[in-house]
Amino acid sequence: MVGKTVVMTGATSGLGRATALQLAENYAFVVCVARDETKARKVLKEIENEGGRGQFVLADLSCMADTVEAAECIGKMVDRLDVLINNAGNHFSKYRATSEGFESTLALNYLSPFVLTHHLIERMEQTASKFGEARIINISSIMHKAPINWDDLNSRDTKYKSTVAYYQSKHMLISFTYFLSNKLKETGITVNCIHPGFVKTALAKSDYPFPMNVIVPIVGLFIGESPEQAADTPVWLASSNEARGINGKYVHHRKAKTSWPPTRDEDAQGRLFTVTQSMLEEWL
Ligand SMILES: NC(=O)c1ccc[n+]([C@@H]2O[C@H](COP(=O)([O-])OP(=O)(O)OC[C@H]3O[C@@H](n4cnc5c(N)ncnc54)[C@H](OP(=O)(O)O)[C@@H]3O)[C@@H](O)[C@H]2O)c1
Repeated sequence: MVGKTVVMTGATSGLGRATALQLAENYAFVVCVARDETKARKVLKEIENEGGRGQFVLADLSCMADTVEAAECIGKMVDRLDVLINNAGNHFSKYRATSEGFESTLALNYLSPFVLTHHLIERMEQTASKFGEARIINISSIMHKAPINWDDLNSRDTKYKSTVAYYQSKHMLISFTYFLSNKLKETGITVNCIHPGFVKTALAKSDYPFPMNVIVPIVGLFIGESPEQAADTPVWLASSNEARGINGKYVHHRKAKTSWPPTRDEDAQGRLFTVTQSMLEEWL
């Protein structure tokens, strides 16, 4: 990764922190997008202590205006952008609307990656045309098996169920991955998503409703990985020669897997892309 730049969201803890550190150890310049300055400084210090290089940009990624500002800041900070990893994400046990009127899970897990990617694409296209390739990686989840509620994407009129909101946001991120991978296939930019498996992080200890509050700890006990172990796949997809050219895949433990059929419906992918563009008009 010598000479390459990576933008990593959610780099202050869990999977994102472990991935950022491993990529910096591989000599990438890592730009950490984070909402908490103290945590961001701490990660940067850890990167530098390992002999790596990086920077941080502050943004609350559930806010689209902040996401746009972060992209502008990154655009001024780096000349080339080889890898973008949309990793920041959360599960919100209670319904919360953002100041811009979006349901928080939708905003953070799906709309913000859409906005950030949109504003960084040009820099990635320049990088791909000059250096041969660039890679976008979206961190999704096996927990994506909920249909898109087209009539009420923001859960305003539907009774809010936190797991459904989370599943739907990850479904959308996969759908976006497939659509974009197709759209960008002639540019040298690849777009893939990852199901990282069960990772023992703050998110895994979230306040899930029944039965997830029972299932999640049990699953974690048997198949949970540390963030350092789980970082293997994002690091591999971001940096290895072996992963060069892999495009439009849903990846788990370095292998392409089959995501839930509705995520693979090309008409729905196109519809979601168009609907998202109109929801986000102000920030694109
Ligand atoms: N853990 C799992 O088993 C699992 C399984 C499947 C998928 N995933 C996905 O993996 C990704 C990483 O999650 P994780 O498990 O590593 O959880 P985590 O340890 O809670 O990390 C989440 C990261 O996102 C950041 N973040 C949250 N809200 C933000 C906001 N509004 N603005 C900016 N940054 C924000 C957090 O920042 P702070 O440090 O400031 O909180 C943190 O750096 C997520 O997309 C998650 O959905 C996780």
